[in-house]
Amino acid sequence: MPTSATPYDVSLDAIAPHGGTLVNRFAADAARADLEARALRGELPALTLNSRELADLEQIACGALSPLTGFMGRADYERVVTDGRLASGLPFSIPVTLSARGEQARIVAPGQTLLLRAPDGALVGALAVEEVFAYDRAREAREVFRTEDAAHPGVAYLMGDMGDRLLGGPITMLGRTAAPFPAHHREPSETRAEFRARGWQRIVGFQTRNPIHRAHEFITKVALEMCDGLLVHPLVGYTKEDDVPADTRMRCYEALLASYYPGGRTLLSTLPATMRYAGPREAVFHAIVRKNYGCTHFIVGRDHAGVGNYYGTYDAQKLFDSYGAAELGIVPLRFEHSFFCRRCGGMGTAKSCPHESSNHVFLSGTKVRELLRAGERPPEEFTRPEVADILIAAMRPPLVA
Ligand code: ADX
Repeated sequence: MPTSATPYDVSLDAIAPHGGTLVNRFAADAARADLEARALRGELPALTLNSRELADLEQIACGALSPLTGFMGRADYERVVTDGRLASGLPFSIPVTLSARGEQARIVAPGQTLLLRAPDGALVGALAVEEVFAYDRAREAREVFRTEDAAHPGVAYLMGDMGDRLLGGPITMLGRTAAPFPAHHREPSETRAEFRARGWQRIVGFQTRNPIHRAHEFITKVALEMCDGLLVHPLVGYTKEDDVPADTRMRCYEALLASYYPGGRTLLSTLPATMRYAGPREAVFHAIVRKNYGCTHFIVGRDHAGVGNYYGTYDAQKLFDSYGAAELGIVPLRFEHSFFCRRCGGMGTAKSCPHESSNHVFLSGTKVRELLRAGERPPEEFTRPEVADILIAAMRPPLVA
């Protein structure tokens, strides 16, 4: 334990970003002024991004997706889809692509600078177009999502919302977009600096798109017992309609951390990224992203990043076995399905609890929603009352005059 380390001890070597260098694609002042001037003169073609593409752009720009410096070209795309690796062989399990539809794609050619606009029309960056290429969406769905079922939210986006050509090349971003939760917003260079300042060497990252219930609390605390610090890193970009909205979740996290986590060993910070629901592939991707934020360990529990019944409970954990520990460079901490056992009087899993499942407190998401909607707290063994109360208040229908 580095308890004797001084806050800025340079001997505390941070974990290397994926691929070795933390990418920064934010434009310097001169480049920004030049691009803005060319945009004003109307010299360059432009593409308007949707909110997910904009989130990817900013994740690339701040280094969260290192070593990517832009949207994937064909060689990277193909190998990521087939093998879960970049063309260089480096593990990378999710394609990060920018698409255009027929007409839009035809105005773009390799060698051009394509202006990138936010959904509201604001100029946010540019793509140095290196490639424009066709791709097989059904194949991507099968390989990445393990299904072609249009009811899968990731497949629905791929098949329904993405264009038929991909545009590959390095990007430049002109500046930061407004962070949704500024008090908790930190880019990878900032979480890394914070870990260094706190003297943490072993840092475990926790991805979540849900309120933190007791099972989540249990696995994060068991992980923290083995590490110096815990990065609670909720994804606050796009999530599907029936997931709890990020602003409600943030209030839950703040309340929970204030009452139940040690402040000196826990950091709450947001991940303004898109949820893809790609289960195992996304679990590996989530780990790589957290490595870029400076984590050395990453929690992978039951059905990580899953949706519906598309993935087996531990498929995500199994996929980590297909990569070498050194090439991945971040240690997955695998957790079994966790629950409160009334006989044990505490949290556990099938690994550590010998009792029948009738002793275990388990509620489905549907049941939890039913209780909360009726204004009832789920049992304390499932959710802390502070969290339940925030969820109940958020679900209460607004008063009509
Ligand atoms: S996810 O889409 O972000 O994976 P969620 O926020 O529910 O969904 O899960 C966050 C992390 O906690 C994931 O690693 C997931 O596998 C793990 N997890 C969720 N519930 C449990 C549980 N009951 N037991 C063990 N791990 C769990």
